[in-house]
Amino acid sequence: MDKFYITTPIYYPSGKYHIGTAYTEVLADSLKRYHALKGDDCFLLTGTDEHGQKIQTKAEEAGLAPQAYVDIQAEIAKKLWKEMKIEYDKYIRTTDDYHVKAVQVIFEKMLKKGDIYKGEYEGWYCEPCESYFTEFQLADGKCPDCGREVRKMKEEAYFFNMKKYADKLLQYYEEHPEFIKPDYRKQEMINNFIKPGLEDLCVTRTSFDWGIPVLSDPKHVIYVWLDALTNYLTALGYTTNEDELFKKLWSADVQLVGKDIARFHLIYWPIFLMSLELPLPKTIFVHNWITMKDGKMSKSKGNVIYPEQLMEKYGLDAMKYYLIREMPTNSDGMFTPEGFVERYNSDLCNDLGNLLNRTIAMTNKYFEGNVPEYMGLVNDADVDLENKSKEAIEKFENEMKEFEFANALQSIWSLIARTNKYIDETSPWALAKEVENETSEDKKIREKKLKSVIYHLIANLKEIAILIRFLMKDTSDNILNQLGIKSDNISFEDLENYTELENIKVIEKGEPLFMRLETEMEIEYIKNLMVK
Ligand code: ME8
Ligand code: MG
Repeated sequence: MDKFYITTPIYYPSGKYHIGTAYTEVLADSLKRYHALKGDDCFLLTGTDEHGQKIQTKAEEAGLAPQAYVDIQAEIAKKLWKEMKIEYDKYIRTTDDYHVKAVQVIFEKMLKKGDIYKGEYEGWYCEPCESYFTEFQLADGKCPDCGREVRKMKEEAYFFNMKKYADKLLQYYEEHPEFIKPDYRKQEMINNFIKPGLEDLCVTRTSFDWGIPVLSDPKHVIYVWLDALTNYLTALGYTTNEDELFKKLWSADVQLVGKDIARFHLIYWPIFLMSLELPLPKTIFVHNWITMKDGKMSKSKGNVIYPEQLMEKYGLDAMKYYLIREMPTNSDGMFTPEGFVERYNSDLCNDLGNLLNRTIAMTNKYFEGNVPEYMGLVNDADVDLENKSKEAIEKFENEMKEFEFANALQSIWSLIARTNKYIDETSPWALAKEVENETSEDKKIREKKLKSVIYHLIANLKEIAILIRFLMKDTSDNILNQLGIKSDNISFEDLENYTELENIKVIEKGEPLFMRLETEMEIEYIKNLMVK
Protein backbone atom coordinates (compact mmCIF):
# COMPACT_ATOMS: atom_id res chain seq x y z
CA MET A 1 0.00 0.00 0.00
CA ASP A 2 1.49 3.31 -1.07
CA LYS A 3 0.97 6.42 0.97
CA PHE A 4 -0.70 9.28 -0.85
CA TYR A 5 -0.57 12.75 0.67
CA ILE A 6 -2.91 15.38 -0.82
CA THR A 7 -3.24 18.96 0.29
CA THR A 8 -5.66 21.75 -0.50
CA PRO A 9 -4.93 25.39 0.19
CA ILE A 10 -5.95 26.52 3.63
CA TYR A 11 -8.94 28.80 3.17
CA TYR A 12 -9.36 32.34 4.33
CA PRO A 13 -11.92 32.25 7.13
CA SER A 14 -14.00 34.93 5.52
CA GLY A 15 -17.70 34.19 5.43
CA LYS A 16 -19.53 31.69 3.30
CA TYR A 17 -17.75 29.83 0.53
CA HIS A 18 -19.28 29.94 -2.94
CA ILE A 19 -19.18 27.05 -5.41
CA GLY A 20 -15.90 28.29 -6.86
CA THR A 21 -14.10 28.12 -3.55
CA ALA A 22 -15.71 24.77 -2.80
CA TYR A 23 -14.33 23.46 -6.09
CA THR A 24 -10.78 22.93 -4.76
CA GLU A 25 -12.21 20.84 -1.94
CA VAL A 26 -14.41 18.74 -4.23
CA LEU A 27 -11.40 18.08 -6.40
CA ALA A 28 -9.24 17.09 -3.46
CA ASP A 29 -11.85 14.82 -1.95
CA SER A 30 -12.45 13.13 -5.31
CA LEU A 31 -8.75 12.61 -5.84
CA LYS A 32 -8.45 11.08 -2.41
CA ARG A 33 -11.35 8.73 -3.02
CA TYR A 34 -9.92 7.76 -6.38
CA HIS A 35 -6.60 6.79 -4.83
CA ALA A 36 -8.32 5.04 -1.94
CA LEU A 37 -10.30 2.96 -4.46
CA LYS A 38 -6.98 2.02 -6.02
CA GLY A 39 -5.76 0.83 -2.65
CA ASP A 40 -3.53 3.73 -1.64
CA ASP A 41 -3.21 4.83 1.97
CA CYS A 42 -4.48 8.40 1.58
CA PHE A 43 -4.18 11.46 3.73
CA LEU A 44 -5.98 14.69 2.92
CA LEU A 45 -5.12 17.95 4.61
CA THR A 46 -7.20 21.10 4.66
CA GLY A 47 -7.75 23.96 7.05
CA THR A 48 -7.98 27.70 7.54
CA ASP A 49 -5.48 30.48 7.00
CA GLU A 50 -6.26 32.68 9.98
CA HIS A 51 -3.59 35.35 10.33
CA GLY A 52 -2.86 38.63 8.63
CA GLN A 53 -4.01 42.18 8.18
CA LYS A 54 -7.05 41.21 6.16
CA ILE A 55 -8.44 38.97 8.91
CA GLN A 56 -7.69 41.56 11.56
CA THR A 57 -9.66 44.14 9.58
CA LYS A 58 -12.58 41.73 9.06
CA ALA A 59 -12.69 40.92 12.76
CA GLU A 60 -12.77 44.63 13.60
CA GLU A 61 -15.62 45.15 11.17
CA ALA A 62 -17.49 42.33 12.87
CA GLY A 63 -16.77 43.86 16.28
CA LEU A 64 -14.86 40.81 17.43
CA ALA A 65 -11.37 40.00 18.66
CA PRO A 66 -9.48 38.27 15.82
CA GLN A 67 -9.31 34.94 17.65
CA ALA A 68 -13.06 34.97 18.36
CA TYR A 69 -13.72 35.86 14.74
CA VAL A 70 -11.60 33.03 13.29
CA ASP A 71 -13.04 30.54 15.80
CA ILE A 72 -16.50 31.20 14.39
CA GLN A 73 -15.33 31.17 10.79
CA ALA A 74 -13.43 27.91 11.13
CA GLU A 75 -16.61 26.24 12.42
CA ILE A 76 -18.59 27.57 9.47
CA ALA A 77 -16.02 26.09 7.10
CA LYS A 78 -15.98 22.72 8.85
CA LYS A 79 -19.76 22.58 8.78
CA LEU A 80 -19.80 23.08 5.02
CA TRP A 81 -17.17 20.41 4.42
CA LYS A 82 -19.20 18.05 6.57
CA GLU A 83 -22.34 18.71 4.57
CA MET A 84 -20.35 18.11 1.42
CA LYS A 85 -18.99 14.87 2.91
CA ILE A 86 -15.39 15.97 2.40
CA GLU A 87 -13.26 13.28 3.99
CA TYR A 88 -10.23 15.22 5.14
CA ASP A 89 -7.89 13.55 7.60
CA LYS A 90 -6.66 16.66 9.29
CA TYR A 91 -7.93 20.18 9.63
CA ILE A 92 -5.18 22.66 10.43
CA ARG A 93 -5.82 26.13 11.75
CA THR A 94 -2.85 28.47 11.55
CA THR A 95 -3.74 29.77 15.02
CA ASP A 96 -3.20 26.25 16.41
CA ASP A 97 -0.46 26.33 18.98
CA TYR A 98 1.72 23.65 17.36
CA HIS A 99 1.63 25.50 14.04
CA VAL A 100 2.57 28.82 15.62
CA LYS A 101 5.57 27.25 17.34
CA ALA A 102 6.70 25.36 14.25
CA VAL A 103 6.54 28.48 12.06
CA GLN A 104 8.73 30.28 14.58
CA VAL A 105 11.26 27.47 14.43
CA ILE A 106 11.16 27.49 10.62
CA PHE A 107 11.78 31.24 10.53
CA GLU A 108 14.79 30.91 12.86
CA LYS A 109 16.20 28.10 10.69
CA MET A 110 16.01 30.29 7.61
CA LEU A 111 17.52 33.20 9.50
CA LYS A 112 20.38 31.09 10.78
CA LYS A 113 21.06 29.78 7.31
CA GLY A 114 21.33 33.33 6.01
CA ASP A 115 18.35 33.00 3.67
CA ILE A 116 16.47 35.60 5.69
CA TYR A 117 18.15 38.96 6.37
CA LYS A 118 17.07 42.26 7.90
CA GLY A 119 16.52 45.37 5.79
CA GLU A 120 14.05 48.13 5.08
CA TYR A 121 11.00 47.82 2.99
CA GLU A 122 9.34 50.37 0.83
CA GLY A 123 6.68 49.27 -1.56
CA TRP A 124 3.09 49.08 -2.62
CA TYR A 125 0.83 46.88 -0.55
CA CYS A 126 -2.44 45.26 -1.62
CA GLU A 127 -4.39 44.45 1.50
CA PRO A 128 -6.90 41.93 0.07
CA CYS A 129 -4.05 39.96 -1.55
CA GLU A 130 -1.64 40.51 1.34
CA SER A 131 1.04 41.14 -1.23
CA TYR A 132 3.71 43.75 -1.73
CA PHE A 133 4.56 44.98 -5.20
CA THR A 134 7.27 47.12 -6.67
CA GLU A 135 6.34 50.16 -8.71
CA PHE A 136 7.22 48.17 -11.82
CA GLN A 137 4.91 45.28 -10.95
CA LEU A 138 1.77 47.40 -10.55
CA ALA A 139 -0.83 47.34 -13.30
CA ASP A 140 -1.91 50.93 -14.00
CA GLY A 141 -1.04 51.81 -10.44
CA LYS A 142 -3.27 49.05 -9.10
CA CYS A 143 -2.72 45.55 -7.76
CA PRO A 144 -1.61 43.31 -10.66
CA ASP A 145 -3.45 40.32 -9.13
CA CYS A 146 -6.87 41.73 -8.22
CA GLY A 147 -6.91 45.21 -9.73
CA ARG A 148 -7.71 46.95 -6.46
CA GLU A 149 -6.10 50.03 -4.86
CA VAL A 150 -2.64 49.63 -3.32
CA ARG A 151 -0.95 51.84 -0.75
CA LYS A 152 2.66 52.85 -0.15
CA MET A 153 4.32 51.35 2.92
CA LYS A 154 7.75 51.73 4.48
CA GLU A 155 9.02 49.66 7.39
CA GLU A 156 11.97 47.83 8.88
CA ALA A 157 11.57 44.26 7.75
CA TYR A 158 13.15 40.89 7.14
CA PHE A 159 13.64 39.61 3.63
CA PHE A 160 13.94 36.20 2.13
CA ASN A 161 16.71 35.89 -0.41
CA MET A 162 14.75 34.58 -3.37
CA LYS A 163 17.42 35.54 -5.89
CA LYS A 164 19.76 32.96 -4.43
CA TYR A 165 17.37 30.18 -5.49
CA ALA A 166 16.14 31.38 -8.89
CA ASP A 167 18.49 29.24 -10.98
CA LYS A 168 18.04 26.24 -8.76
CA LEU A 169 14.29 26.52 -9.15
CA LEU A 170 14.51 26.75 -12.94
CA GLN A 171 16.72 23.71 -12.97
CA TYR A 172 14.26 21.85 -10.77
CA TYR A 173 11.39 22.69 -13.15
CA GLU A 174 13.55 21.46 -16.00
CA GLU A 175 14.45 18.15 -14.39
CA HIS A 176 11.00 17.36 -12.98
CA PRO A 177 8.36 17.51 -15.70
CA GLU A 178 5.78 16.11 -13.26
CA PHE A 179 6.26 18.96 -10.81
CA ILE A 180 3.81 21.43 -12.35
CA LYS A 181 0.55 20.45 -13.98
CA PRO A 182 -0.81 21.48 -16.38
CA ASP A 183 2.47 22.18 -18.10
CA TYR A 184 1.61 25.66 -19.41
CA ARG A 185 1.61 27.03 -15.85
CA LYS A 186 5.34 26.40 -15.69
CA GLN A 187 5.99 28.58 -18.70
CA GLU A 188 3.83 31.31 -17.17
CA MET A 189 5.96 31.31 -14.01
CA ILE A 190 9.19 31.37 -15.98
CA ASN A 191 8.11 34.15 -18.35
CA ASN A 192 6.21 36.35 -15.92
CA PHE A 193 8.22 36.05 -12.73
CA ILE A 194 11.49 34.16 -12.91
CA LYS A 195 12.98 35.44 -16.18
CA PRO A 196 12.29 39.15 -15.37
CA GLY A 197 14.22 38.51 -12.11
CA LEU A 198 12.91 37.34 -8.76
CA GLU A 199 12.73 40.04 -6.11
CA ASP A 200 13.65 39.19 -2.55
CA LEU A 201 10.48 38.68 -0.58
CA CYS A 202 9.55 40.73 2.45
CA VAL A 203 8.65 38.13 5.09
CA THR A 204 7.77 40.19 8.18
CA ARG A 205 5.47 43.06 9.07
CA THR A 206 5.40 45.60 11.89
CA SER A 207 2.30 47.52 10.78
CA PHE A 208 -0.13 45.16 12.54
CA ASP A 209 0.14 42.36 15.06
CA TRP A 210 -2.36 39.64 14.11
CA GLY A 211 0.27 37.12 13.12
CA ILE A 212 3.03 34.91 14.44
CA PRO A 213 5.81 36.93 16.14
CA VAL A 214 9.41 36.32 15.12
CA LEU A 215 10.96 34.46 18.07
CA SER A 216 14.18 36.45 18.11
CA ASP A 217 12.58 39.83 17.29
CA PRO A 218 8.95 39.77 18.43
CA LYS A 219 7.93 43.23 17.27
CA HIS A 220 7.86 41.67 13.80
CA VAL A 221 5.12 39.30 12.78
CA ILE A 222 5.76 36.70 10.10
CA TYR A 223 4.34 37.38 6.65
CA VAL A 224 1.10 35.48 6.26
CA TRP A 225 2.20 33.53 3.17
CA LEU A 226 5.28 32.13 4.92
CA ASP A 227 3.01 31.25 7.83
CA ALA A 228 0.36 29.74 5.53
CA LEU A 229 2.51 27.78 3.09
CA THR A 230 4.38 25.95 5.80
CA ASN A 231 1.09 24.49 7.09
CA TYR A 232 1.64 21.59 4.71
CA LEU A 233 4.61 20.62 6.88
CA THR A 234 3.55 21.69 10.34
CA ALA A 235 0.25 19.79 10.08
CA LEU A 236 2.35 16.61 10.05
CA GLY A 237 4.39 17.55 13.11
CA TYR A 238 7.43 18.96 11.32
CA THR A 239 9.99 20.39 13.81
CA THR A 240 8.32 18.64 16.77
CA ASN A 241 9.03 15.38 18.57
CA GLU A 242 5.76 13.97 17.31
CA ASP A 243 6.71 13.89 13.67
CA GLU A 244 5.76 10.31 12.69
CA LEU A 245 3.24 11.62 10.16
CA PHE A 246 5.83 13.95 8.71
CA LYS A 247 8.30 11.09 8.30
CA LYS A 248 5.65 8.89 6.76
CA LEU A 249 3.91 11.38 4.46
CA TRP A 250 6.29 14.09 3.33
CA SER A 251 6.73 14.94 0.52
CA ALA A 252 3.23 15.57 -0.78
CA ASP A 253 2.05 13.52 -3.72
CA VAL A 254 -0.33 16.18 -5.00
CA GLN A 255 -0.91 19.73 -3.89
CA LEU A 256 -4.01 21.32 -5.36
CA VAL A 257 -4.23 25.07 -5.80
CA GLY A 258 -6.37 27.51 -7.75
CA LYS A 259 -4.71 29.61 -10.44
CA ASP A 260 -4.86 32.78 -8.34
CA ILE A 261 -2.38 31.34 -5.87
CA ALA A 262 -0.19 29.52 -8.38
CA ARG A 263 2.67 32.00 -8.02
CA PHE A 264 2.94 31.44 -4.27
CA HIS A 265 2.95 27.67 -4.65
CA LEU A 266 5.12 27.34 -7.72
CA ILE A 267 7.82 29.85 -6.76
CA TYR A 268 7.93 30.79 -3.07
CA TRP A 269 6.86 27.44 -1.73
CA PRO A 270 9.49 25.29 -3.50
CA ILE A 271 12.14 27.85 -2.59
CA PHE A 272 11.15 27.72 1.08
CA LEU A 273 11.45 23.94 0.90
CA MET A 274 14.89 24.20 -0.70
CA SER A 275 15.94 26.51 2.08
CA LEU A 276 14.75 23.96 4.64
CA GLU A 277 16.54 21.25 2.65
CA LEU A 278 13.34 19.27 2.29
CA PRO A 279 12.14 17.37 -0.76
CA LEU A 280 9.67 19.18 -2.99
CA PRO A 281 6.16 17.89 -3.63
CA LYS A 282 5.85 15.46 -6.49
CA THR A 283 3.12 17.43 -8.26
CA ILE A 284 1.41 20.75 -7.83
CA PHE A 285 -1.80 20.84 -9.83
CA VAL A 286 -3.19 24.24 -10.70
CA HIS A 287 -6.90 24.35 -11.43
CA ASN A 288 -8.83 27.09 -13.18
CA TRP A 289 -11.73 29.14 -11.97
CA ILE A 290 -15.44 28.73 -12.06
CA THR A 291 -16.84 31.88 -13.57
CA MET A 292 -20.28 33.20 -14.38
CA LYS A 293 -21.63 34.60 -17.65
CA ASP A 294 -20.75 38.09 -16.45
CA GLY A 295 -17.28 37.14 -15.24
CA LYS A 296 -15.99 36.53 -11.75
CA MET A 297 -18.41 35.53 -9.02
CA SER A 298 -18.84 38.37 -6.56
CA LYS A 299 -21.40 39.51 -4.05
CA SER A 300 -21.42 43.01 -5.47
CA LYS A 301 -22.36 41.67 -8.91
CA GLY A 302 -25.05 39.52 -7.32
CA ASN A 303 -24.00 36.44 -9.26
CA VAL A 304 -22.88 34.18 -6.45
CA ILE A 305 -24.04 30.59 -5.99
CA TYR A 306 -23.45 28.72 -2.77
CA PRO A 307 -22.98 24.95 -2.60
CA GLU A 308 -25.68 24.61 0.07
CA GLN A 309 -28.25 26.04 -2.31
CA LEU A 310 -27.54 23.52 -5.04
CA MET A 311 -27.09 20.56 -2.71
CA GLU A 312 -30.34 21.16 -0.92
CA LYS A 313 -32.36 21.19 -4.13
CA TYR A 314 -30.48 18.85 -6.46
CA GLY A 315 -28.30 16.75 -4.19
CA LEU A 316 -24.60 16.64 -3.48
CA ASP A 317 -23.68 14.25 -6.28
CA ALA A 318 -25.36 16.28 -9.01
CA MET A 319 -23.60 19.42 -7.84
CA LYS A 320 -20.20 17.74 -7.71
CA TYR A 321 -20.76 16.12 -11.09
CA TYR A 322 -21.51 19.46 -12.67
CA LEU A 323 -18.56 21.26 -11.10
CA ILE A 324 -16.01 18.67 -12.15
CA ARG A 325 -17.55 18.02 -15.55
CA GLU A 326 -17.58 21.69 -16.52
CA MET A 327 -13.99 22.53 -15.57
CA PRO A 328 -11.41 22.08 -18.30
CA THR A 329 -7.70 22.19 -17.43
CA ASN A 330 -6.88 24.73 -20.11
CA SER A 331 -9.44 27.44 -19.42
CA ASP A 332 -11.99 28.55 -16.86
CA GLY A 333 -15.24 26.66 -16.45
CA MET A 334 -18.53 28.49 -16.55
CA PHE A 335 -21.52 27.95 -14.33
CA THR A 336 -24.83 28.55 -16.07
CA PRO A 337 -28.30 27.61 -14.79
CA GLU A 338 -29.13 26.32 -18.28
CA GLY A 339 -26.02 24.14 -18.33
CA PHE A 340 -26.70 22.80 -14.88
CA VAL A 341 -30.26 21.73 -15.68
CA GLU A 342 -29.21 20.32 -19.04
CA ARG A 343 -26.46 18.15 -17.53
CA TYR A 344 -28.79 17.04 -14.77
CA ASN A 345 -31.53 15.94 -17.13
CA SER A 346 -29.44 14.62 -19.93
CA ASP A 347 -26.37 13.04 -18.29
CA LEU A 348 -27.73 11.99 -14.92
CA CYS A 349 -31.43 11.45 -15.46
CA ASN A 350 -31.52 10.13 -19.01
CA ASP A 351 -28.20 8.51 -19.71
CA LEU A 352 -27.35 7.02 -16.33
CA GLY A 353 -30.74 6.88 -14.61
CA ASN A 354 -32.60 5.28 -17.50
CA LEU A 355 -29.89 2.72 -18.14
CA LEU A 356 -30.27 1.50 -14.59
CA ASN A 357 -34.06 1.58 -14.66
CA ARG A 358 -34.35 -0.31 -17.90
CA THR A 359 -31.84 -2.90 -16.78
CA ILE A 360 -33.53 -3.52 -13.43
CA ALA A 361 -36.96 -3.75 -15.07
CA MET A 362 -35.79 -6.25 -17.70
CA THR A 363 -33.92 -8.40 -15.21
CA ASN A 364 -37.10 -8.65 -13.15
CA LYS A 365 -39.33 -9.23 -16.13
CA TYR A 366 -37.24 -11.91 -17.84
CA PHE A 367 -35.40 -13.60 -14.98
CA GLU A 368 -37.36 -12.74 -11.85
CA GLY A 369 -34.53 -10.52 -10.80
CA ASN A 370 -31.86 -13.22 -10.92
CA VAL A 371 -28.83 -12.16 -12.92
CA PRO A 372 -27.88 -14.94 -15.37
CA GLU A 373 -24.34 -16.27 -15.45
CA TYR A 374 -21.75 -15.11 -18.00
CA MET A 375 -22.43 -16.72 -21.39
CA GLY A 376 -19.33 -15.52 -23.22
CA LEU A 377 -19.61 -13.53 -26.42
CA VAL A 378 -23.02 -14.51 -27.75
CA ASN A 379 -24.60 -11.51 -29.42
CA ASP A 380 -22.94 -9.74 -32.32
CA ALA A 381 -22.74 -6.62 -30.20
CA ASP A 382 -21.11 -8.35 -27.22
CA VAL A 383 -17.59 -8.12 -28.64
CA ASP A 384 -17.75 -4.44 -29.31
CA LEU A 385 -19.41 -3.74 -25.97
CA GLU A 386 -16.69 -5.52 -24.03
CA ASN A 387 -13.95 -3.83 -26.06
CA LYS A 388 -15.50 -0.41 -25.58
CA SER A 389 -15.80 -0.98 -21.88
CA LYS A 390 -12.11 -1.88 -21.60
CA GLU A 391 -11.20 1.16 -23.67
CA ALA A 392 -13.34 3.45 -21.52
CA ILE A 393 -11.66 2.25 -18.34
CA GLU A 394 -8.22 2.67 -19.84
CA LYS A 395 -9.04 6.15 -21.04
CA PHE A 396 -10.52 7.01 -17.66
CA GLU A 397 -7.29 5.94 -15.93
CA ASN A 398 -5.09 7.91 -18.31
CA GLU A 399 -7.17 11.05 -17.92
CA MET A 400 -7.11 10.75 -14.13
CA LYS A 401 -3.33 10.39 -14.21
CA GLU A 402 -3.12 13.70 -16.07
CA PHE A 403 -5.64 15.37 -13.75
CA GLU A 404 -8.04 15.72 -16.66
CA PHE A 405 -11.05 15.12 -14.45
CA ALA A 406 -13.66 16.43 -16.89
CA ASN A 407 -12.32 14.12 -19.60
CA ALA A 408 -12.27 11.21 -17.18
CA LEU A 409 -16.00 11.76 -16.60
CA GLN A 410 -16.55 12.03 -20.29
CA SER A 411 -15.03 8.61 -20.82
CA ILE A 412 -17.40 7.13 -18.23
CA TRP A 413 -20.32 8.75 -20.02
CA SER A 414 -19.15 7.34 -23.31
CA LEU A 415 -19.39 3.90 -21.73
CA ILE A 416 -22.89 4.73 -20.50
CA ALA A 417 -23.87 5.80 -24.01
CA ARG A 418 -22.38 2.66 -25.51
CA THR A 419 -24.29 0.51 -23.04
CA ASN A 420 -27.57 2.27 -23.78
CA LYS A 421 -26.97 1.72 -27.48
CA TYR A 422 -26.34 -1.96 -26.78
CA ILE A 423 -29.92 -2.34 -25.56
CA ASP A 424 -31.23 -1.00 -28.84
CA GLU A 425 -28.87 -3.19 -30.85
CA THR A 426 -29.79 -6.41 -29.09
CA SER A 427 -33.54 -5.70 -28.61
CA PRO A 428 -33.99 -7.89 -25.56
CA TRP A 429 -37.80 -7.53 -25.80
CA ALA A 430 -37.65 -9.27 -29.17
CA LEU A 431 -35.39 -12.00 -27.79
CA ALA A 432 -37.88 -12.57 -24.98
CA LYS A 433 -40.86 -13.00 -27.28
CA GLU A 434 -42.14 -16.54 -27.74
CA VAL A 435 -41.75 -17.34 -31.41
CA GLU A 436 -44.24 -19.65 -33.14
CA ASN A 437 -42.92 -22.70 -35.03
CA GLU A 438 -39.55 -22.28 -33.41
CA THR A 439 -37.30 -25.32 -33.04
CA SER A 440 -36.05 -26.01 -29.55
CA GLU A 441 -32.52 -25.30 -30.78
CA ASP A 442 -33.54 -21.81 -31.95
CA LYS A 443 -35.26 -21.23 -28.66
CA LYS A 444 -32.12 -22.18 -26.75
CA ILE A 445 -30.05 -19.73 -28.76
CA ARG A 446 -32.58 -16.97 -28.20
CA GLU A 447 -32.61 -17.57 -24.48
CA LYS A 448 -28.87 -17.63 -24.35
CA LYS A 449 -28.71 -14.32 -26.19
CA LEU A 450 -31.16 -12.78 -23.77
CA LYS A 451 -29.15 -13.99 -20.80
CA SER A 452 -26.03 -12.52 -22.32
CA VAL A 453 -27.70 -9.14 -22.80
CA ILE A 454 -28.82 -8.93 -19.20
CA TYR A 455 -25.45 -10.13 -17.93
CA HIS A 456 -23.59 -7.50 -19.93
CA LEU A 457 -25.90 -4.72 -18.81
CA ILE A 458 -25.45 -5.61 -15.16
CA ALA A 459 -21.69 -6.02 -15.53
CA ASN A 460 -21.38 -2.66 -17.26
CA LEU A 461 -23.52 -0.93 -14.68
CA LYS A 462 -21.32 -2.36 -11.98
CA GLU A 463 -18.26 -0.95 -13.77
CA ILE A 464 -19.96 2.40 -14.16
CA ALA A 465 -20.85 2.44 -10.46
CA ILE A 466 -17.21 1.78 -9.57
CA LEU A 467 -15.91 4.40 -11.98
CA ILE A 468 -18.17 7.21 -10.76
CA ARG A 469 -17.55 6.29 -7.14
CA PHE A 470 -14.60 8.67 -6.64
CA LEU A 471 -16.98 11.56 -7.25
CA MET A 472 -20.51 10.30 -6.61
CA LYS A 473 -20.30 7.87 -3.73
CA ASP A 474 -23.99 7.98 -2.82
CA THR A 475 -25.11 7.41 -6.40
CA SER A 476 -22.61 4.57 -6.70
CA ASP A 477 -23.98 2.97 -3.52
CA ASN A 478 -27.49 3.41 -4.83
CA ILE A 479 -26.71 1.71 -8.14
CA LEU A 480 -24.85 -1.19 -6.52
CA ASN A 481 -27.62 -1.59 -4.01
CA GLN A 482 -30.24 -1.79 -6.76
CA LEU A 483 -28.10 -4.32 -8.60
CA GLY A 484 -27.85 -6.40 -5.45
CA ILE A 485 -24.07 -6.00 -5.18
CA LYS A 486 -22.43 -5.29 -1.83
CA SER A 487 -20.67 -1.96 -1.93
CA ASP A 488 -18.69 -1.96 1.33
CA ASN A 489 -15.41 -3.29 0.02
CA ILE A 490 -15.74 -2.39 -3.58
CA SER A 491 -12.54 -1.14 -5.25
CA PHE A 492 -10.93 -0.78 -8.64
CA GLU A 493 -9.86 -4.40 -8.44
CA ASP A 494 -13.49 -5.32 -8.98
CA LEU A 495 -13.23 -3.89 -12.47
CA GLU A 496 -11.16 -6.90 -13.39
CA ASN A 497 -13.80 -9.48 -12.53
CA TYR A 498 -16.07 -8.70 -15.44
CA THR A 499 -17.09 -12.32 -16.09
CA GLU A 500 -17.42 -13.30 -12.46
CA LEU A 501 -20.71 -11.85 -11.25
CA GLU A 502 -22.36 -14.59 -9.25
CA ASN A 503 -25.66 -15.15 -7.49
CA ILE A 504 -26.90 -11.66 -7.80
CA LYS A 505 -30.52 -10.69 -7.45
CA VAL A 506 -31.51 -7.18 -8.37
CA ILE A 507 -33.97 -5.11 -6.40
CA GLU A 508 -37.63 -5.79 -7.24
CA LYS A 509 -38.71 -2.25 -7.89
CA GLY A 510 -35.96 0.17 -8.87
CA GLU A 511 -35.95 3.76 -7.68
CA PRO A 512 -35.05 6.54 -10.12
CA LEU A 513 -31.51 7.81 -9.39
CA PHE A 514 -32.43 11.35 -10.39
CA MET A 515 -35.85 12.90 -10.89
CA ARG A 516 -36.34 14.69 -14.17
CA LEU A 517 -36.33 18.47 -13.79
CA GLU A 518 -38.82 20.76 -15.43
CA THR A 519 -36.34 22.79 -17.45
CA GLU A 520 -37.77 26.32 -17.55
CA MET A 521 -38.89 26.24 -13.95
CA GLU A 522 -35.55 25.07 -12.58
CA ILE A 523 -33.56 27.55 -14.65
CA GLU A 524 -35.70 30.30 -13.14
CA TYR A 525 -35.19 28.84 -9.69
CA ILE A 526 -31.40 28.87 -10.02
CA LYS A 527 -31.39 32.36 -11.51
CA ASN A 528 -33.32 33.56 -8.48
CA LEU A 529 -30.74 32.05 -6.15
CA MET A 530 -28.12 34.28 -7.70
CA VAL A 531 -29.84 37.60 -7.16
CA LYS A 532 -30.43 37.11 -3.46
O1 ME8 B 1 -6.10 31.70 -1.37
N1 ME8 B 1 -13.24 28.94 -8.89
O2 ME8 B 1 -7.54 31.06 0.28
P1 ME8 B 1 -8.94 31.34 -0.41
C1 ME8 B 1 -12.38 27.99 -8.50
N2 ME8 B 1 -5.65 31.34 2.10
N3 ME8 B 1 -11.63 28.07 -7.39
C2 ME8 B 1 -11.74 29.16 -6.64
C3 ME8 B 1 -12.63 30.21 -6.97
C4 ME8 B 1 -13.40 30.07 -8.17
N4 ME8 B 1 -14.26 30.98 -8.58
N5 ME8 B 1 -12.53 31.16 -6.02
C5 ME8 B 1 -11.62 30.72 -5.11
C6 ME8 B 1 -6.33 31.40 -0.23
N6 ME8 B 1 -11.14 29.53 -5.49
C7 ME8 B 1 -5.17 31.28 0.76
C8 ME8 B 1 -4.43 30.00 0.48
S1 ME8 B 1 -2.56 28.18 0.96
C9 ME8 B 1 -1.11 28.11 1.77
C10 ME8 B 1 -3.25 29.73 1.34
C11 ME8 B 1 -10.12 28.71 -4.80
O3 ME8 B 1 -9.95 31.05 0.64
C12 ME8 B 1 -8.77 29.36 -4.75
O4 ME8 B 1 -8.13 29.26 -5.99
O5 ME8 B 1 -8.97 32.69 -1.03
C13 ME8 B 1 -8.09 28.53 -3.68
O6 ME8 B 1 -7.57 27.34 -4.24
C14 ME8 B 1 -9.24 28.20 -2.73
O7 ME8 B 1 -10.44 28.55 -3.43
C15 ME8 B 1 -9.17 28.92 -1.40
O8 ME8 B 1 -9.05 30.29 -1.60
MG1 MG C 1 -8.74 33.91 -2.71
